[in-house]
Amino acid sequence: MTSPRTPGPGRVLVVEPMSSGVALLRAAHDLGLETVVVSHDRDDRRLPDGVRRDIDTLLTLDTNDEPALTAAVTALHAERQLVGILPGFEFYVPVVARLAARLGLPGLPAPQAAAVRDKALMRRRVEAAGLRVPRYAPACSAAELDAAAEAVGFPCVLKPTDSAGSIHVVRVDDRAELHSAYRNLVGDPRSDLGRRLDGKILLEEYLDGPELSVEGYVTDGQVRIVAVTRKFLGPEPHFVELGHVVHADLTPSVRRAVDAYVTAVVAALGVTVGPFHCELRLPGGAPVLIELAARMGGDRIPQLVEIASGVPLAHLAVAAHTGLGPDAVPVRSPRAKFAGIHFLTAPGLDRYRAVHGLDTLRGRPDVLAAELYLRPGETIPPATDFRCRLGHVLFTADSYADALEVRRLIDLGVSFE
Ligand SMILES: Nc1ncnc2c1ncn2[C@@H]1O[C@H](COP(=O)(O)OP(=O)(O)O)[C@@H](O)[C@H]1O
Ligand SMILES: [Mg+2]
Repeated sequence: MTSPRTPGPGRVLVVEPMSSGVALLRAAHDLGLETVVVSHDRDDRRLPDGVRRDIDTLLTLDTNDEPALTAAVTALHAERQLVGILPGFEFYVPVVARLAARLGLPGLPAPQAAAVRDKALMRRRVEAAGLRVPRYAPACSAAELDAAAEAVGFPCVLKPTDSAGSIHVVRVDDRAELHSAYRNLVGDPRSDLGRRLDGKILLEEYLDGPELSVEGYVTDGQVRIVAVTRKFLGPEPHFVELGHVVHADLTPSVRRAVDAYVTAVVAALGVTVGPFHCELRLPGGAPVLIELAARMGGDRIPQLVEIASGVPLAHLAVAAHTGLGPDAVPVRSPRAKFAGIHFLTAPGLDRYRAVHGLDTLRGRPDVLAAELYLRPGETIPPATDFRCRLGHVLFTADSYADALEVRRLIDLGVSFE
């Protein structure tokens, strides 16, 4: 354990900060709070580059070991009280809810937290509130697949009940594809943050329509919707997220319907505090839930939201979870009207030697950053989920149409060989 840099008015704990969760630490410092992080800090839970400078105290332990995590956090709280505790990644939402309840800190009610991590439970709760959800049927083994498909019909989408990043989410058009997709899922030896898939899946009606995500937060019992994001996907049957644009191009009436639907979904799931990221599709123009996560969106969406609206979601998340409230958070003028991210992929390549066109893009005034995650010669994972993405370009735009044009130029301008 390292000792605190500067003793602040309170300290806030983040479990396993990664993806957008990293921004919680800087936000906590901005709000005058001291930061404590619990992380496994190895393998694929190694702390991301650059995050250490925002950590005042680091506890290293296996964050998937709930008794060990509970003992360490309880001891820390007894030594000097925490003012808040937040999950740094979606998998830690339920355990953080249990810890918050145990320590008397603001948090999601623990039974509610289960439903934002289990897609079958989520569907049941939202359906029970009278809201539209896709037809769905759970299955736990190959023997249960045909009955589930019978209930849902083809085409349908097969997905693990509690994974993320579109891992093993696939459209299947018939029984043969269904069984083959399920065999791939149960036979996949890879783990994600130390977790293996358990073979529990959901089959869902395939929703045909544009996809959105809605970013917001709950504070003092109020649902606040901050922005709506348009999501762009790669070719089916997989659903690799290839880009996002904030703000989505919605007519006022669709936007009203989306806001009302998401507000009702948040209430149905009992998300009473903190950020949410709700994914939905618009089949026939009406919103239907894909999923809701009780955390900020990944894929740099909070950064896009801040650029295009001035609202800092990470600060609001920390403020909600520490009881500081939204008034503690300054909202700035937007830096641009629209912001987007476009992910780089190399279809057909299993490694690359060289990349072309990135420097030209970096010279554009509307391009804020262009990054690569995989080095030349490294194996490119199959184009079935987020792991196949090689990098991204972050940009601003004056209009939604301009944002689409920048995406097109990136697509044409960057190539891998
Ligand atoms: N019922 C569905 N109909 C159409 N597309 C879907 C459906 N369910 C999921 N998808 C697509 O798959 C993606 C990943 O599914 P999701 O349920 O969000 O799982 P994950 O937790 O892996 O993100 C979604 O963003 C969407 O593009
Ligand atoms: Mg999703």
